[in-house]
Amino acid sequence: MTRRRLPGRHRPPEHPLPTGEDKTALVRSMFDTIAPRYDLVNRVMTFGLDVRWRRRACRALGLPAGSRVLDVACGTGDFLRELRRQGMAPVGVDLSWGMLAANTSGEPLVQADATQLPVASGSVAGVTCGYALRNLTDLGSVLAELARVLAPGGRISLLEVSEPTWAPLRLGHRLWFTRAVPLIGAVLSDAEAYRYLPRSVAYLPDEGTLRSLLVSVGFSGVNRRSLLGGASQLVTATRSGTGTSRASTPGAGTGP
Ligand SMILES: C[S@@+](CC[C@H](N)C(=O)[O-])C[C@H]1O[C@@H](n2cnc3c(N)ncnc32)[C@H](O)[C@@H]1O
Repeated sequence: MTRRRLPGRHRPPEHPLPTGEDKTALVRSMFDTIAPRYDLVNRVMTFGLDVRWRRRACRALGLPAGSRVLDVACGTGDFLRELRRQGMAPVGVDLSWGMLAANTSGEPLVQADATQLPVASGSVAGVTCGYALRNLTDLGSVLAELARVLAPGGRISLLEVSEPTWAPLRLGHRLWFTRAVPLIGAVLSDAEAYRYLPRSVAYLPDEGTLRSLLVSVGFSGVNRRSLLGGASQLVTATRSGTGTSRASTPGAGTGP
């Protein structure tokens, strides 16, 4: 397998972290580059726990079988496979053509930016999003877009990295994430990308800010769970409002 380097103009600068269109271009180019070995690096750097966390995130939707679920920033398709295993009818959306090309889930896929989902309003029963919040350029707009596409009573399940609160665990986690992960990434995939990924955690809003953002765009019952002492976080919420969810009827709410 040949390893492509990031094009010079998209090379992640050491400092500061990019914003706006520069960030979107960098993220897109970076995931195009690392797509072929993304799954392998993921398994190694989480000791395979990412599989278990995605399973938990899908269950946390609490939706009936046949529900139409949109996996935003679906990447190589791990969420799509798990959603199907749990009886859902998933559709994947991602910005990166490279990640979509490496997606072997067999589920319907759409290339789009999460800020402008090509999905009818109120047409899906659930949305999952794994390890992508920190990669988004405009988190508020994306959360508002998730609220738009969900039927009233629809559910979101967002999985993201986090930092353990217990100091010794936090130190170990930090060393692993900032030293070991870039090394593993350099050996198995692309050094620059896996140096950037730990730094991108700085984009994540704190718990209170994320909760306020979700409430402001129309979610209620926001719940945050720490996984493995805080190494990951799972945030769930319900789309406010009432009405019969067409999206939870098997075969209906076909989305994009
Ligand atoms: C760390 S990967 C996560 C992939 C997958 N969800 C998983 O759990 O393994 C982040 C993904 O977010 C996608 N992404 C980043 N910004 C995006 C955007 N604005 N719209 C859609 N997808 C985006 C990237 O292309 C990449 O596939």
